Amino acid sequence: MVRIILIGYMGAGKTTVGKALATELGVPFYDLDWFITTRYRRSVPEIFAERGEEGFRDLERRMLHEAAEFEDIVLSCGGGTPCFFDNMDYMNSLADTIYLKATPEVLAMHLRMGKGKRPLLEGKSPEELEGYIREMLITREPFYSQAKYTIDVSLLDTVTKIQESVRLIRECLSI
Ligand code: S3P
Repeated sequence: MVRIILIGYMGAGKTTVGKALATELGVPFYDLDWFITTRYRRSVPEIFAERGEEGFRDLERRMLHEAAEFEDIVLSCGGGTPCFFDNMDYMNSLADTIYLKATPEVLAMHLRMGKGKRPLLEGKSPEELEGYIREMLITREPFYSQAKYTIDVSLLDTVTKIQESVRLIRECLSI
């Protein structure tokens, strides 16, 4: 059975790498945000607006408990998932958890290019972004670093980043 959960900050490439990994392994791919938005028929910004971050974290936890029970999956979480409740312990108890680690510089660059709407970054200018990420990583890193494996994606060259991340994950897990 293959049950892999990718964690890491927004913009680390969890969804892109997760899809490529799942395709190579021939197992379904799930993105937790997608799972939440499909179930509740609301976008992530809409859920934040209607229920606040606390409400979103509750739904996120509930959906994590559904999605992570599937056998043979690659699941990518939201950037905050490991940092609330006992989510990190829960994920470690039933899956191979992989932290896609990147520097604030690399994350800020990806997020400036990205089109996705992220409520926690709303209103941040491109100049403010890197400092904000750096601050947030101070509180988040202790959770992320509890993953069973860490892949440093900032060192990888942009063109081969996805294939190289997939290769490194497969090497870690010997699959
Ligand atoms: C969040 C990350 C987002 C999404 C929500 C909150 C976070 O997911 O779950 O906007 O707290 O870091 P991505 O990491 O896929 O962008």
